[in-house]
Amino acid sequence: MNAKTKLCCLLGNPVEHSISPLIHNTLAEKMGINLAYTAFKVQEENVGDAIKGAKALGILGMNVTVPHKCAVIPYLDDIDSLALKIGAVNTIVSTDSGYKGYNTDIIGLGRQLREEGIEISGREVIILGAGGASKAITFLCAKEGAKRIWLLNRSLDKAASLANEVNEHFKDVVVPMELKDFDRIPKGKYPVIQTTSVGLYPNVDNAPIEDEAFYDLAEAGVDIIFNPAETKFMKLCRKHNVPAYNGLKMLLYQGIAAFELWNDVKVPDEMAKELLVLMEKEMKSNG
Ligand code: ATR
Repeated sequence: MNAKTKLCCLLGNPVEHSISPLIHNTLAEKMGINLAYTAFKVQEENVGDAIKGAKALGILGMNVTVPHKCAVIPYLDDIDSLALKIGAVNTIVSTDSGYKGYNTDIIGLGRQLREEGIEISGREVIILGAGGASKAITFLCAKEGAKRIWLLNRSLDKAASLANEVNEHFKDVVVPMELKDFDRIPKGKYPVIQTTSVGLYPNVDNAPIEDEAFYDLAEAGVDIIFNPAETKFMKLCRKHNVPAYNGLKMLLYQGIAAFELWNDVKVPDEMAKELLVLMEKEMKSNG
């Protein structure tokens, strides 16, 4: 680091277990860019001050994580149209006219789905969960041209309210229902995206749907959780010969998309692969 080092950072709470510093500091080193990335734990009431301070210091870019992805929006100068619809920003980019917000989580998931050969356009898909992460993913699937999205959640009211929001922009594509009613979905094979927090470390023995009949509906299973590397949902998919993927690639690709926006570069695919191996090692060494 020297007087020319550009700074990027993460705003969230908690942040101390974040793998984003590994992603960005490794990319900076491999790409030969004089950039350092660190993480700041920011309390809810200080989000506005944090953004103003970052601007005053000329911080090049920020990632935003739980619980601030919505709270940062009023403090931005501009926002990407899809991030605005989703109502969540995870990446902030310094531009000539101030800070602009993006949602690279969905760019990350979109790239992962393409890479795994999971087609959304013209297809019916199943999404489990209707929280913040699901909202971004439901918008992504609608934007990618899903024919129908079966949105299953523990509480029907949250699924219904998210369905209404997305259906305002993409006519009647989302059908909300309770998790336990999955047998109302017509028999067939669907890509399934698991967005609930069920199965996340340390509660590794749970899946949002334990009834194994559900897994006969799955053609491929994507869990956005990456800790543990194999969730109970993924185990149940694999038990039914359904290919299953965790959320580590989504995390990697959202980071790469942010890095590319900040630095106006393209990260080579080979470098992305090397970084994924490093991330897997890091996850293993963390337990
Ligand atoms: P995130 O931003 O990670 O999506 P969130 O907005 O709190 O987090 O959403 C959590 C999701 O996990 C919701 O879909 C939640 O279901 P409810 O809307 O019914 O609360 C789901 N979830 C959490 N615990 C669950 C459990 N034990 N069983 C089923 N779903 C659960």
